[in-house]
Amino acid sequence: MAQLWGGRFQKKTDDLVYEFNASITFDKTFFKEDLEGSRAHVKMLAKQGIITEDDKNAILEGLDSIEKDVDSGKLEITTEYEDIHSFVEANLIDRVGEPGKKLHTGRSRNDQVALDMRLYTRSQVDYTKSQLVNLLNVILRIMKENTTTIMPGFTHLQKAQPITLAHHMGAYFEMFRRDVLRLIDIRERMNYCPLGSGALAGTTYPLDRDFTAKELGFTAPCDNSMDGVSDRDYLIEYLSALSTIMMHLSRFSEEVIIWNSNEYRFVEIDDGFSTGSSIMPQKKNPDIAELVRGKTGRVYGALMSLLTTMKGIPLAYNKDMQEDKELAFDAMRTTNGCIQLFSGMLDTMSFNKDNMYRSSNEGFTNATDVADYLVGKGVAFRDAHGIVGRIVLECIDKKIAIDDMSLDELKAICPAFEEDIYDAISMETCVSKRLTKGACSKTSMEEAIAGYEGFIKSVAD
Ligand code: ARG
Repeated sequence: MAQLWGGRFQKKTDDLVYEFNASITFDKTFFKEDLEGSRAHVKMLAKQGIITEDDKNAILEGLDSIEKDVDSGKLEITTEYEDIHSFVEANLIDRVGEPGKKLHTGRSRNDQVALDMRLYTRSQVDYTKSQLVNLLNVILRIMKENTTTIMPGFTHLQKAQPITLAHHMGAYFEMFRRDVLRLIDIRERMNYCPLGSGALAGTTYPLDRDFTAKELGFTAPCDNSMDGVSDRDYLIEYLSALSTIMMHLSRFSEEVIIWNSNEYRFVEIDDGFSTGSSIMPQKKNPDIAELVRGKTGRVYGALMSLLTTMKGIPLAYNKDMQEDKELAFDAMRTTNGCIQLFSGMLDTMSFNKDNMYRSSNEGFTNATDVADYLVGKGVAFRDAHGIVGRIVLECIDKKIAIDDMSLDELKAICPAFEEDIYDAISMETCVSKRLTKGACSKTSMEEAIAGYEGFIKSVAD
């Protein structure tokens, strides 16, 4: 049991209390960040004349040797220590003696843990962003290859109008682009340094908070020390962004699962990204997509948990805040893993273009275009809508598509039909005539793709 406190206590901590209170099993995650923060702090202490240069050098060397030994496995981070801060400080004192006892001058574990968690989260925000950029690149590649790949677009999961695969993928590009922008935005807002807040009230030492903030890559120190130690908004924002990413991935997964079903057969998931059944030899299951969909709830859970933890906490630090870590770490790991796996699955997935085309040709996806055609021939839209409705009814009865009706049959329903109807309602025409910005035509999508390329360039590191 290695603790940083105890002077005022007359009895040893109960074993169960010690275990309940300890955080080493999970806060070891930010061991590197703890060292980074301590290095900046100690450099600042020396610069301000609070400790000597010799003490600073001894501490820095000690921290380096601890890092080296942990990295090589020579030194193990064990539950003998209450938390990662105690582990580092105790080992430092062990190694360098007296100077090590000065490391914590003008610092509290409250601002220390706030800093460590913020540093760790900031690097995770960057990592999530880079994972998303990889995914955007995969989506963009598929878009470029499929500006004329026709498929049905759905509403209510009913075939609605023909679109292209590029158009469908583009909708996901938009979602993940917003996710990237959200992360950039969060990073900017969170990038303020809590170090130097002390326990809550600031400190009596002449700390240079601007120096440590700059040293650690922050925009500036936090403006209020009480907020500095007790703000977890940044983490809530990040968990919210992760939840939205998972929601997008889950929707996409649902589509992949549907497209991969025996009934649709729009896609073929690569063998490397699917799994089999222990009993049914014919099965090839979309487990990755299902797991991504399933793990979404877990990430939402982390967000709800932290929101709930924070809602009743008076200023400033309270131990409840230790609960900000385990589920948040899990959410970060889960989401980053899901983006990576989903990208791999998407990148290796093949599209059955013939099936997509055939499917778009069935189900009267060109009905709107038949009505538009009649409008072009002078029929009022509402009348045209009714006429096409009757045509569809007849086609359902005869089990044929609108294009399969002869001109005479069409004329019998409405004399405005002419020979050019067939061209006007082909899948190709339905798609290529939708030229408005953001629509499904090749022209519109090529414009979007050019913008997406620029976006990726602007955010890629
Ligand atoms: N393990 C603690 C946490 O994660 C570190 C801060 C401890 N501060 C305190 N006053 N007990 O929040």
